[in-house]
Amino acid sequence: MDAAISVAGLTKRYGGRTAVDGVSFEVRRGESFGILGPNGAGKTTTLEMIEGLRRPDGGTITLLGQPVWPDPRRIQARIGVQLQTTSLFDMLTARELLELFARFYLRQDAEERTRIALELVGLEAKADDYAKRLSGGQQQRLAIALALVHDPDIVFLDEPTTGLDPQARRNLWDVIRSINTDQGKTVVLTTHYLEEAEELCDRVAIMDESRIVALDTPAGLIATLDADARVSYTDAAGDHTVYVKDAQATVLEVLEQARAGGDTIRNLAVKGADLEDVFMQLTGREYRE
Ligand SMILES: Nc1ncnc2c1ncn2[C@@H]1O[C@H](COP(=O)(O)OP(=O)(O)OP(=O)(O)O)[C@@H](O)[C@H]1O
Ligand SMILES: [Mg+2]
Repeated sequence: MDAAISVAGLTKRYGGRTAVDGVSFEVRRGESFGILGPNGAGKTTTLEMIEGLRRPDGGTITLLGQPVWPDPRRIQARIGVQLQTTSLFDMLTARELLELFARFYLRQDAEERTRIALELVGLEAKADDYAKRLSGGQQQRLAIALALVHDPDIVFLDEPTTGLDPQARRNLWDVIRSINTDQGKTVVLTTHYLEEAEELCDRVAIMDESRIVALDTPAGLIATLDADARVSYTDAAGDHTVYVKDAQATVLEVLEQARAGGDTIRNLAVKGADLEDVFMQLTGREYRE
């Protein structure tokens, strides 16, 4: 079975600056794939080249067996896109917008597709509200519904939960999971939330400074740390962070040594190893959301 997405040597420059630098990866059909990275890493640029919205300076992109460039229109009916910022027609209702989009794709069953999309994202009760009257979370849902209304094979979501409160984010996770698991669609999303990537994605590409620095399942990425926990503390000599297998033994040892030396330990913290630690090991920097 061929890949849903195949990207090789993808490169984009803006003026003298390289925003995406030789990025290569494959996404399998039915997979939920995440691109995780801090602001400016190159996630949106990568996504929009794959979606046929920005022309690459180098490299190749194949979607469902077909090259995207130089003529992206051929493949665009089979993909659904939620852009990082969506501006909707304010004076149309959610339902009207969905039907309009379905008709853009020449769907004869626009009303039925609209009903399905509204149900998928749980917006049935808001169907006849103006788009501009919806809350932030509801607008994100509508943007996802718009990406789904023509029943595409691959759905691209660029930071679908940014700006939402934790509860709204979790609700949207259920929606995204169901698009992938129940609807069987290939999902590609970008995020700068580590837990979101860990929670939603079968595999995660960690992107930093225009390149993919690691790509694996969340568990596989965490396993590269060869540690189960992160212990951090402050003593007279400064801040320390260590990755260890036996957190209890480490904590006891740190406290023992401090007592023996008449030192005081502050800010002692122990946490299970996660993608934040993977990022730190790869880049030498803390991951800041
Ligand atoms: N249209 C553009 N013109 C010039 N530079 C751009 C353009 N779009 C993006 N860039 C630059 O390319 C780099 C990557 O941007 P991109 O939007 O792909 O990052 P990102 O990972 O999506 O970040 P964020 O998490 O903030 O959305 C940044 O340095 C950005 O300033
Ligand atoms: Mg972006």
